Amino acid sequence: MSPVTVPAIINLDVPGPVISRHLYGHFAEHLGRCVYDGFYVGEDSDLPNEGGIRLDVVEALRALNIPNLRWPGGCFADEYHWMDGIGPKESRPAMVNTHWGNVEENNHFGTHEFMALCELLGAEPYISGNVGSGTVREMSDWVEYLTREGDSPMVRLRKANGREEPWRVRFWGLGNEAWGCGGNMKAEQYAAEARRFGTYCRDHGDNKLYRIAAGANSADYAWTETLMKQLGELGCAYRPASFMQALSFHYYTIPGTWQDKGSATEFGVDDHYRTMAQAARVDELITGHSNVMDCYDPGKNVGLVLDEWGTWWNVEPGTNPGFLYQQNSLRDALVASLHFDVFHRHADRLVMANIAQTVNVLQAMILTDPDSGALVLTPTYHVFEMNKGHQDAASLRVDLPDGLPARQVDGTELRTVSLSASRKNGQVLISLSNLDAGEAADVELDLRGGAVAIARARILTAGDLRTHNTPDAPEAVAPRPHEQVTATPSGLRVHLPAHSFVTVEASLT
Ligand code: AHR
Repeated sequence: MSPVTVPAIINLDVPGPVISRHLYGHFAEHLGRCVYDGFYVGEDSDLPNEGGIRLDVVEALRALNIPNLRWPGGCFADEYHWMDGIGPKESRPAMVNTHWGNVEENNHFGTHEFMALCELLGAEPYISGNVGSGTVREMSDWVEYLTREGDSPMVRLRKANGREEPWRVRFWGLGNEAWGCGGNMKAEQYAAEARRFGTYCRDHGDNKLYRIAAGANSADYAWTETLMKQLGELGCAYRPASFMQALSFHYYTIPGTWQDKGSATEFGVDDHYRTMAQAARVDELITGHSNVMDCYDPGKNVGLVLDEWGTWWNVEPGTNPGFLYQQNSLRDALVASLHFDVFHRHADRLVMANIAQTVNVLQAMILTDPDSGALVLTPTYHVFEMNKGHQDAASLRVDLPDGLPARQVDGTELRTVSLSASRKNGQVLISLSNLDAGEAADVELDLRGGAVAIARARILTAGDLRTHNTPDAPEAVAPRPHEQVTATPSGLRVHLPAHSFVTVEASLT
């Protein structure tokens, strides 16, 4: 059977909103083997490290142009007391990480270690403060400790701990999932807390905070509306509020039930389509939250942040259920590529997104072997790498005169081809995903307003959707050159085999 043909029109000379690099953001929580044994192995480790930070992890993430890293949680953020994580390691008090495995947290990875990690990565820190069990003073002091220069009680403490100069910190979270693990609050209650905490997170000197209020769970638009009401009258918010500059929401792709989410590697074609349909919902959710925000903030001054997203499967058999360690297959890569197409389309309101989580937890970029320490790059990692040219590029709208091929999945329509494009510095990047498990597709790109020369085309695919990388087969799913991209009189024809992700990099001539 010949592949379905999908015509798509891109006007190369009509740049749309800029795709913030922060849509390619990351998240590292004190959870399982993400921080300890993932990012941080300690100075005594045999693995090459700087101050205990694993250098091969740093190198792999630098290759993604990692823009920011959210820390210390997640749910952990609302039981984290930052003062326990500064000073000599041997005198830092321990605590129990009640959310994640009930294990003891020795606080050896704290503020200084996190900021050192961000410096090594070249990433901006995104710190989630503790609203649930912390105090306004505690949060206010943390901001002062990190960002103030000159002389003050917190500055003296920072200097006594070895850091003379303040750090630059822009992204500041006012708690996490306040409707759940962050305090089980009602929206009105949290909105009042956000005003209070946000007020005392001061801008010290020229360090301007970008305060992110803890937002909704999935489709809880009422939560978003309650927060937006804090900003001003309906349609009349003429300037950004000083206590919050953005609000977040969280959405995970879970095709099963909360009790049985499904296996990361043992699944059938129906599970695959159900997963893609769940992932595609992120478009509806961003649209919904944006619509609510538009009513209160038509000038789009307030940012929308999706600071937790990704697949959530049953943990790998034999691993600690509280550690959320899961495998990552070609299917996860397609979940990621689909999300990025959606993010690019919403670049006018969506200012940041953070995949959960970067190492060894949920939809990770990197998995490390607990015994040998071997590091594996996941299929999801490769999507981030293949797509990095979209960071800070101008989005290009894609028009689809014949629509997209689709399948019915549990009563909803899943479009099985997805694409997005951007331009930056005379370069065009087009990303195309074929979500169909069995059918190929040919995308006929009608490129208007400019001519292009193909610089590089790459494909990420495998014989089976369940394929994943392991220490023994680290490149089972890895990008390869894609030959099936041909010039046509009006643009390009791109062949997409079943279950594949393709990027075409081209230069404007
Ligand atoms: O990412 C794992 C957890 O998922 C986070 O700690 C929490 O915010 C969310 O429920």
